[in-house]
Amino acid sequence: MDKRPIGIFDSGVGGLTVVKQIMKTLPNENIIYFGDTARLPYGTKSKKTVTKFSKQIVRFLLTKNVKAVIIACNTASSNSLEELRQTFDIPIFGVIVPGVEEAIHCTKNKKVGIIGTTSTIRSKAYETLLAQADSSIEVYAKPCPLFVSLVEEGWTENMVAKLTAKNYLTDLIEKEIDSLVLGCTHYPLLKRCIGETVGNNIKLVDPAKATARMVKEFLAKHKLLQQGETVAERYFYISDDTDTFSNMCKKALKKEYIPEVIDIEAY
Ligand code: DGL
Repeated sequence: MDKRPIGIFDSGVGGLTVVKQIMKTLPNENIIYFGDTARLPYGTKSKKTVTKFSKQIVRFLLTKNVKAVIIACNTASSNSLEELRQTFDIPIFGVIVPGVEEAIHCTKNKKVGIIGTTSTIRSKAYETLLAQADSSIEVYAKPCPLFVSLVEEGWTENMVAKLTAKNYLTDLIEKEIDSLVLGCTHYPLLKRCIGETVGNNIKLVDPAKATARMVKEFLAKHKLLQQGETVAERYFYISDDTDTFSNMCKKALKKEYIPEVIDIEAY
């Protein structure tokens, strides 16, 4: 039994889709969330910059005595996971491996689409792991950078969102993929719009559930679970004050949380 919180971070609100699954799968766990609202998007930045930001965030989370860190951001997972693991002596989880496992589980015709930020797609993290797991899978990857801005703006179901989705996704549909990995934690907040665009024959793969399962198994195996009847505490931190964060928090988690603004550059 370990009461220390789990640290979870993203560039903004996207990681809340992972928080939601952690809250479902591990309801007793205390959570410290950090959203880097001052410095997003990460998806257009270099590996060096994303890794520098990620290290600062892990240092901040360590001041909150976290027992494990979840990188609830595909961009940081694909660019910085290895370096973070080498730098910090704490269990650190990314979202790519669980996403790959889920995609392999979902695809029947072995044609998988991956959408993510420019940086995630450029890293080829999904393609590499999918090819290692099953070389017969055909992978079609496409960066969809505008989706992040739409989510941060709260434009998840309007005409602009629908037209953007159609524009980005039409050629993936034409490849006859049967599974589409939402390789950016912001994208599940556009699930309805993306789902309507690709239709019922294409299954949307959200790595968040598989990530939560993986973290639970690890904590159980290492006797790090928080057990008992105590009500879990969840604290939210951001690097710049935005209305969007509170609004999306309410939408994603069905509860109002007031985030605290911190100076992440100080870490
Ligand atoms: N939500 C993040 C991801 O999963 C990054 C979005 C961004 O800041 O560009 O990649």
